[in-house]
Amino acid sequence: MRSFAGRDILSLKDFERNEFFHVFEIADQLEPIARERRNTDLLAAKTMVTAFYQPSTRTRLAHEAAMHRLGGHVTGFSDAKMTRAGDFYQESIKDTVHMLEYYGDVLVMRHFQQGAPHEAARWASIPVINAGDGWGEHPTQVLTDLYTVQKETGSVDGKTFVCIGDHRMRTMHSIGYALSQFDAEMVILAPEDMSPTAEFLAELDEKGTSWRIVEHINDVIEDADVIYMEPVVQPDYTQSRQEKQDEYGFTPENYRITKEVMKKAKGDSIVLHSLPRMDELLPEVDQLKHARYWQEAYNGVVMRMALLALILGTTE
Ligand code: CP
Repeated sequence: MRSFAGRDILSLKDFERNEFFHVFEIADQLEPIARERRNTDLLAAKTMVTAFYQPSTRTRLAHEAAMHRLGGHVTGFSDAKMTRAGDFYQESIKDTVHMLEYYGDVLVMRHFQQGAPHEAARWASIPVINAGDGWGEHPTQVLTDLYTVQKETGSVDGKTFVCIGDHRMRTMHSIGYALSQFDAEMVILAPEDMSPTAEFLAELDEKGTSWRIVEHINDVIEDADVIYMEPVVQPDYTQSRQEKQDEYGFTPENYRITKEVMKKAKGDSIVLHSLPRMDELLPEVDQLKHARYWQEAYNGVVMRMALLALILGTTE
């Protein structure tokens, strides 16, 4: 297996099956630290730099929380407008990264341009973690999600993932790539204007991900082991920021999960949502045994602890 030390985490396209299991194993080893709300000194000599050009609650703060749990240091920005990249100068990614690499040992970047973290990695002498790039990918979120499936159901293999929502979304791309390494099926349910592209589906075929497209939730809810959700009412991920409009659409019934819909689901199926949610996942579902998105959010810290420990070379 390739070493994680010093490695960029930009995509799940090239992640190998044994690497998923290795990351899950390290997450299991470190999880008690988060559960017991302890801070350790594993990464006491290391600093993480965050460069967030797009809003985030979970991804940035979960990385920061993970670093604190491991005793490391954190610096960075969460609003590029307060940096030279977001003012008069519009400083380039190359120049910005040449600064940031002097300030820490790992760079976590979210950007509205697809491929921006990849460009950062070209110029940075420190490892770069993609925290979401435009519609591109969100590898650390999907590692978190698959870890949650493994923990909550015992295995990713053998599962039917019903992926509901906007399939232009970066998580949908990362999970499609990731499932090529498992004996699992990806079932796609999306509004027509949010369907996966032909290029993406061709990539899934090339990689060996088993997929099919369905028209209606009723066609597939009884088959689902994992109901994997994204909103269809959401901002344009190619923009740095979008304010909420006075007028915005509601989620059509076909892309919503409710208590009523879940009555038809398998008893042991689980619902995941990387959050934030709109009206596609009603709060009434929070009370059901199927809801695992809060566990998923907790695992977001544990997964980032595992990745940071591996990338920064304190854990093999
Ligand atoms: N799931 C996720 O990426 O959430 P944030 O946008 O809050 O980071």
